[in-house]
Amino acid sequence: MSQVTQSVIVHPAKTFGGHLKQPPGDKSISHRIAMLSALADGETVVKNFLPSEDCVNTLRAMEAIGARTHSNDAGDLVIHGTAGKAMEPANPLDVGNSGTSMRLLAGLFAGFPIKVEMTGDESLRSRPMSRIQAPLEQMGARIELLGENNCAPLRITGGNLKGITYALPMASAQVKSCVLLATLYAEGTTVVVEPRPTRDHTERLLQSLGVPMTVEGLRITLNGFGAKGPTLSAREWTIPGDFSSLAFWMVAAAARPGSHLKLDHVGVNPRRTALLDVLQRMGAKVSITPEKNSDAEPIGKITIEGVGLRGTAVGGDEIPNLIDELPVIAAAGALAEGETVIRDAAELRVKESDRIAAMAANMKLLGVDVEERPDGMVIRGPARLKISGGVRSYGDHRIAMAMAVLALSAPEPVCINNVACVQTSYPHFWSDLKTLGGHVE
Ligand code: S3P
Repeated sequence: MSQVTQSVIVHPAKTFGGHLKQPPGDKSISHRIAMLSALADGETVVKNFLPSEDCVNTLRAMEAIGARTHSNDAGDLVIHGTAGKAMEPANPLDVGNSGTSMRLLAGLFAGFPIKVEMTGDESLRSRPMSRIQAPLEQMGARIELLGENNCAPLRITGGNLKGITYALPMASAQVKSCVLLATLYAEGTTVVVEPRPTRDHTERLLQSLGVPMTVEGLRITLNGFGAKGPTLSAREWTIPGDFSSLAFWMVAAAARPGSHLKLDHVGVNPRRTALLDVLQRMGAKVSITPEKNSDAEPIGKITIEGVGLRGTAVGGDEIPNLIDELPVIAAAGALAEGETVIRDAAELRVKESDRIAAMAANMKLLGVDVEERPDGMVIRGPARLKISGGVRSYGDHRIAMAMAVLALSAPEPVCINNVACVQTSYPHFWSDLKTLGGHVE
């Protein structure tokens, strides 16, 4: 994450919406395509790659093991793969704020007979990494956690992996993907069993690259290719729009009676779109029109019509499919009539910040009636928002953006402090906010 401390002032907006034709590329898919293309044989062209700090950190890490990248005349990302080889990086890799980079790359690097040290910013160095250490060590890698409390920096000594059967202790696409990527370079078969369905981009992309696997409900079986790994062909990809980034606009429009929002080319993988069900339960009018599938992922146009929202309960299997949207769902709850309850979401406490504590503290500053729970929160709305001395991002991009959505409904401008973190996932956030009718200084 950038060290620059910046603040913005978000002004109230009576109407919000319009048509966003050029969505930011999906962050999760950009990471995975960067990793797999960097190991492919030949030159991959990636359209709509997300050039955010997190994804650039993944690209730099893949360059450190031998891939090369550049932009072509059309502005697309070009990745020259290593044809399945990985050299030992000369220096420790710094992946900044990006948990996806650290956890997925740990799995990938563990498959090669190399030593790699990875570190990150203060937030990443406080996030749990034993969740990847356990399965990777069972597979035969050595993962040393060099930070305090079993956190990063981590040192990976890879090679000679074998497949395992692993029941994930938590619903985490990052841990699942770490184990699947490590299995590519392992002998034997891995079976991963998830407690709840999580985003399946890794499975889809690998299958679309010709890597066979069996997915039966929550059980994924993947045969390893041994030390030589699979042969991955270079090709062209188009990254769908990032549902989680566009979710901020969906909530901003949904909460404003009379607003209309239209979004094109959005990734509508059902493991990502549970927010739409929540907004519908809250009363908003939502529609998805499928577009021609982009490669491995479904895409579509989404329209939202704003109404006066009512509260709802969010929990259970739906949580992993809206995990990154929970801060903005909390903001929606503050604007809705009645009670909104979020439960089964303790994972929020170990994201880029403790998102339960951060949202509750910020919303209290604005006068919202919110009660923190160990695994979520209860919000009683609609809040009569009052103005305080400003709110904080806690260095967490999604807290900054969720608070911007709430600020659009405040009676007076709200200052949001420390918003440089928005660069980690959505570099054009503030300009898109203006395009859709917001005013920000
Ligand atoms: C991600 C998975 C989720 C999500 C994160 C991105 C991914 O994390 O919160 O922003 O790209 O796999 P967990 O799998 O740890 O829940």
